[in-house]
Amino acid sequence: MARVVVTGRIPDAGLDMLRKNHDVFAWAEDSPMPREKLLDVVDGATAIVSLLTEKIDEEVLLAAGNQLRIVANVAVGFNNIDVAACAARNIVATNTPGVLTEATADVAMALILMTTRQLGKGERIVRSGEPWQWGMFYLLGTSVQGRQLGIIGLGQIGVALARRAKAFGMTIAYSNRRPVDPTIGAELDATRMDLRTLLASSDVVSLHCPYSPATHHLMSTEQFEAMKPTSYLINTARGPIVDEAALVEALQNDTIAGAGLDVFEREPLVHPGLMRLDSVVLLPHLGSATIETRTAMATLAAANVIAVLNGETPPTPINPVA
Ligand code: DGY
Repeated sequence: MARVVVTGRIPDAGLDMLRKNHDVFAWAEDSPMPREKLLDVVDGATAIVSLLTEKIDEEVLLAAGNQLRIVANVAVGFNNIDVAACAARNIVATNTPGVLTEATADVAMALILMTTRQLGKGERIVRSGEPWQWGMFYLLGTSVQGRQLGIIGLGQIGVALARRAKAFGMTIAYSNRRPVDPTIGAELDATRMDLRTLLASSDVVSLHCPYSPATHHLMSTEQFEAMKPTSYLINTARGPIVDEAALVEALQNDTIAGAGLDVFEREPLVHPGLMRLDSVVLLPHLGSATIETRTAMATLAAANVIAVLNGETPPTPINPVA
């Protein structure tokens, strides 16, 4: 029986699939597995099912040993995995694209509405017990209808967000290395722009690119200065794509109007400057957090493991091993 190590709690549907034919060690606590424990339990593993809270690097691969055949991430983002190190050892790395597209787009759209309509601030006021009264000019927001949504990284989640935003009357611009499929481009009536033009012309900028050294601090002082003072930044991708210190400064100086963030640079820590600002909405990385989505993520990761251990091609590989 192959040893499968699951580094964090996942829905039972995924565990049940793995337990049918494999010897499964699954971390049973909600808090992340301590690094020392991870290095200890992966010893002898043929498969690692990882969560984004665990860094799967050279040290973990070494601790696991030569029999390791797959690292299956239960996330679409895979910046926690050293994919090159996996490929060098002929270890397949997989992720879970597709199944969390709609849930994450829902949260991005929610953040757009929460920021532009000051819903976060309103909720905080009511909950605090602070006196309030309906007023003609009380907590006025701005309408999204007729405004431009600029999407940086128009992949699956970006497209799903664009569909929602169009239903709310927004127009769509995007910045990608390559143009999107013409059918999608036509459906969304989306205009491709270089990053600077997108930043300068959009009313809301939403990040949907993967995190890598190339996108580290993609949004920093220069980019905020290129945006309109009335515009908003939304991030449901990865925290370090945004230079948080520069964002705090941009918000304090009214360089931009607000931000909606589901992810943070030093997650779960949040920059203290953000905590003090009413113009930001802060969520604790909830993009894919529905029971349906998390179950689909767990079962897809399990399907990836089972395929590789059966000598088959996994459904969603990151780096197909030649
Ligand atoms: C992902 O899959 O990358 C998400 O961030 C998890 O919620």
